[in-house]
Amino acid sequence: MTAKIISGTETAKAIREELKIEIAELQEKHNVVPGLVTILVGEDPASQSYVTAKNKTAHALGIHSEQVTLAADSSEQELLNLIEKYNNDEKIHGILVQLPLPKHINEAKVLYAINPDKDVDGFHPVNVGKMVLGEQCYLPCTPHGILELLTRSGVKTSGAEVVVIGRSNIVGKPISNLMLQKRDGGNATVTICHTRTKDMAAHTRRADIIIAAVGVPKMVTADMVKDGVVIIDVGVNRIGKTADGKAILAGDVDFDAVKEKAAAITPVPGGVGPMTITMLMKNTVQAAKQAAGLI
Ligand code: GUN
Repeated sequence: MTAKIISGTETAKAIREELKIEIAELQEKHNVVPGLVTILVGEDPASQSYVTAKNKTAHALGIHSEQVTLAADSSEQELLNLIEKYNNDEKIHGILVQLPLPKHINEAKVLYAINPDKDVDGFHPVNVGKMVLGEQCYLPCTPHGILELLTRSGVKTSGAEVVVIGRSNIVGKPISNLMLQKRDGGNATVTICHTRTKDMAAHTRRADIIIAAVGVPKMVTADMVKDGVVIIDVGVNRIGKTADGKAILAGDVDFDAVKEKAAAITPVPGGVGPMTITMLMKNTVQAAKQAAGLI
């Protein structure tokens, strides 16, 4: 069997077309322009390219976007002051602080400082709590994108054995929680594997769906999966550079070998990555509608 490729690029494009129409209507009918600010502290090249892509996408959709970069040695207080400024800025409906932050800044303190109504990343404890309870909230962008990829690709999750590899706050924990909820893309039996898991392959071989979010290139090998598995590869690992200096990327899954056994698989790049950015746009539109009292 050679796997069907689940294209995040194509799915994200379809969602962005829907959003474009919604954003144009918001402006025409309600004079509302969704606004997003991204805040980056420091010069990490990967983070720089992510925030630039987020702002570019926002701009292309008709979202007002502001990109702020603070020096790597900026104080925690400077960052908190900036967040407070945007908490009070009516043009801005969504605030995103790119992670990771430099070590001298307390990440939790920063995430708590964002007004939960503007927390389009879904990282504030208020939104995390609402998500766990299955209440209306901003869903974190990568897990939200994974749910959309699965549902729009027609992958049945109800009753499925799902193995999530990785327990980060950004991906592993929230996607595990969302997939066990009574909702579209949920109702699964979820196992979470991590660095202390004793026999990971014993778990992954039973999985109908594997979600790999570990940050180790090609860690999931063909012998670890059963025939017909569906693979969602969240890993974006830089494994080298081309002659002209472009990063060579690999996922957490050995794509070439695993695709021969899988029923469906996401590529890297072009899988989960474009979905994450698009769901940020969706959350920003949701934030603008909420602020205008439209939902
Ligand atoms: N760093 C890696 N992924 C993310 C994300 O989804 N949001 C933010 N703010 N930072 C990240």
